[in-house]
Amino acid sequence: MDTFTVNGTTRAVRTAPGTTLASLLRDQLGLTSVKLACERGECGTCTVLVGGRPRLSCVTLAALVDEEVTTAEGLAEESADLRAAFADRGAFQCGFCTPGHVVHATALLRGGLPAAPERAARHVRRELSGNICRCTGYTAIVEAVCETARRRAATEGVPGEELT
Ligand code: FES
Ligand code: FES
Repeated sequence: MDTFTVNGTTRAVRTAPGTTLASLLRDQLGLTSVKLACERGECGTCTVLVGGRPRLSCVTLAALVDEEVTTAEGLAEESADLRAAFADRGAFQCGFCTPGHVVHATALLRGGLPAAPERAARHVRRELSGNICRCTGYTAIVEAVCETARRRAATEGVPGEELT
């Protein structure tokens, strides 16, 4: 039996050797925002935060995780404006990739984006390049993330200059 902290709550879990973090989160803890597509580290749909950094949970062994894990469920409040921007911009169609994009972009936004719009968009495209979307063509996703950064910088003074 191991203890495991996810979305602010410490849980007791039992994992068989070889259990992936994605399996633990989905199958044992019922955190179904964690989507599985390629299951070999190539698409980003299974992205969660481990110790605040994006991690592909399908290729992460649960037994090796010793920092807090955060899924899209645990980011509901922090990502509310980002998710609204996704909806406003039509940044998803089937929505299967969306939790992974939201998790990754939430971590990205904590550090702010370059103030110059074109640089911000390039930065977002580069940082989210491991999150694959079959539906949208990415433009709306990038715009939603950039718009969220601009709004936060305007209303909260969130850092937006250090990457320029
Ligand atoms: S399901 Fe994990 S990277 Fe594709
Ligand atoms: S919205 Fe369908 S895969 Fe991204």
